Amino acid sequence: MNILLLGSGGREHAMAWKIAQSPKLSTLFIAPGNPGTATVGVNLPVAADDFQAIKNAVLENNINMVVVGPEDPLVKGVVDFFAADAELKNVPVVGPDKVGAQLEGSKDFSKRFMFRHNIPTAGYLSVTNNNIEEGVDFLKSLQPPYVLKADGLAAGKGVLILNDLDETISELKAMLDGKFGSASATVVIEEFLSGIECSVFVITDGKNYKILPEAKDYKRIGEGDKGLNTGGMGAVSPVPFADVEFMQKVEERIIKPTVEGLIKEGIVYKGFIFFGLIKVNNEPYTIEYNARMGDPETEVVMLRIKSDFVDLLEGAANGNLDEKDIEFDDRSAVTVMLVSGGYPEDYEKGKEINGLEGVNGSIVFHAGTAQRAGKIVTNGGRVIAVSSYGENKSEALALSFANAQKIQFDKKYFRTDIGFDL
Ligand code: AMP
Ligand code: GLY
Repeated sequence: MNILLLGSGGREHAMAWKIAQSPKLSTLFIAPGNPGTATVGVNLPVAADDFQAIKNAVLENNINMVVVGPEDPLVKGVVDFFAADAELKNVPVVGPDKVGAQLEGSKDFSKRFMFRHNIPTAGYLSVTNNNIEEGVDFLKSLQPPYVLKADGLAAGKGVLILNDLDETISELKAMLDGKFGSASATVVIEEFLSGIECSVFVITDGKNYKILPEAKDYKRIGEGDKGLNTGGMGAVSPVPFADVEFMQKVEERIIKPTVEGLIKEGIVYKGFIFFGLIKVNNEPYTIEYNARMGDPETEVVMLRIKSDFVDLLEGAANGNLDEKDIEFDDRSAVTVMLVSGGYPEDYEKGKEINGLEGVNGSIVFHAGTAQRAGKIVTNGGRVIAVSSYGENKSEALALSFANAQKIQFDKKYFRTDIGFDL
């Protein structure tokens, strides 16, 4: 079969790498992809949210299945676009429709969903310009730190965690006044949960689901989890504290009620659900949903799926996921992200990347790279994810760190303490 994968980051290179190993695959196309995905498939010069151009690409290349990497096309309704188009409606798309994608696209929607289905999560209040006073009263009823979240997509920047009440109240007002554009016209105020986080993923066909390997990502730019939030500086799988007992609680209290809740509400959801979880006194709580796989978690999750990933994707698309098997690789997998100096604030692009051919024993996933005049150059904040297997986390990390040293570009930075807290 021919598959079209939408997206261009490290997540998509990792998925492409795994899809390309399937005996079921004829040709993999990636729109728009990156120089890494070009090594395992055919990149098409089509933006991941240009639905008309995607349609043309699907018809020209006899695509049998579309897999959506990032949230943007989902929240903009790529699945609905396919369903409404006479020529596309029989091409299955792995990803939720516009309503399902609201689990990620609207924090208010996802909190209401969790409360309707008794899914453990932090207490909250949604605030708009019409109930600011109620919002201030709610803040006063909480203990610091205070959590403010822009309702809509804000490129991972829409969450503020503040210690001072007065500052929180003025930030709340700034958000409602458009600090994050229309994304913060509604702000979700949440009770602060203290614990250790991990990411759990399922693939679902809307009725059945399979739990994928769990992972922990490292969001802060600095060692010891200090400094600004990034898209993710590295990831580790498995996560030792997500043991059998914890995962049983996650499945019973969070995963099952989520999938059943979607069914009860008539939301047709074929794709990935990403559960951002926090373990508080041994009990799991849901911090957030995403309607896609995590990045950089995918760069370790793909290494730990032993089964044919295309077979699972087909199960999700065709509604027979219950007939599929998923087998995990018992080894540890880690990824270390090489980023541009200055990221997540201002950074330069176009720096020549050298030493890729010297990498030994790791799998290099391209995140923000481009090809210019025969050279690979940096083209984003997060540039390359160096992923490795090991008999344990330390062995895998040693390989990734050694190879991270071999890859060179001006102002390269990476965290040398990924996995330090596990
Ligand atoms: P989110 O985009 O909702 O995942 O929030 C981003 C990050 O903020 C999370 O990964 C947590 O580290 C932190 N966070 C979000 N909500 C809470 C909360 N209610 N309590 C504590 N930390 C939170
Ligand atoms: N690594 C977190 C995310 O993909 O949102």
